[in-house]
Amino acid sequence: MLVSGFGSNLQTFIDGSQTGDLPIDIVGVISNKEGVYGLERARNAGIPERCIPHGQFSSRETFDRSLLTQLREWQAELVVLAGFMRILSNGFVKHFENRLINIHPSLLPNYTGLNTHQRVLEDSEKSHGASVHFVIPELDKGPVIIQGKLKINSDDTAETLQQRVHSIEHQIYPLAIKWFAEGRLSVTADGVLLDGEKSAKQVITFN
Ligand code: GAR
Repeated sequence: MLVSGFGSNLQTFIDGSQTGDLPIDIVGVISNKEGVYGLERARNAGIPERCIPHGQFSSRETFDRSLLTQLREWQAELVVLAGFMRILSNGFVKHFENRLINIHPSLLPNYTGLNTHQRVLEDSEKSHGASVHFVIPELDKGPVIIQGKLKINSDDTAETLQQRVHSIEHQIYPLAIKWFAEGRLSVTADGVLLDGEKSAKQVITFN
């Protein structure tokens, strides 16, 4: 798992793996930022954790090579980005093709990039949400595994949207990782299939 901050999504994976709901073994957590709560969550759960501060590297590629070395040492089979706020190099992304998953706080392909909650409000959008997707070299463009949608209320602010979307993330991200771990996902030219077909389970509407 790669994190950059608070790690609330990481916590849902820790909880799920401890209760047995999520059939995964979290082999390690890396943060590119020192002192973040995500690392403490890993420590508290007895999961190997490491900080690799990106500022100590002369290029994106050398930083990513260091990530790769650690992930290989842990024999990671899947890399989960849980609020990891660094763009990864093409080489890294290709190395983990179809084994690198991200969550993004918008209904992709809409609102790639940052400040999504503020931007949907400025555009008077009616709905918003979060998307879990396989990572490809183009930022926030990879095939979507599952989306959680919500209706924007007239009194929503960027802060309330952030909270509402976060709570959706905590439900759809573990589900997507469970599907992956159970071998139920396939990436095709038509997008990501669940059990060999496009499924209604891949779009969930929340209150
Ligand atoms: C989440 O909202 C996630 O969607 C977002 O960072 C937050 C991390 O929260 N990721 C991105 O914006 C990636 N482009 P967390 O640290 O509490 O899991």
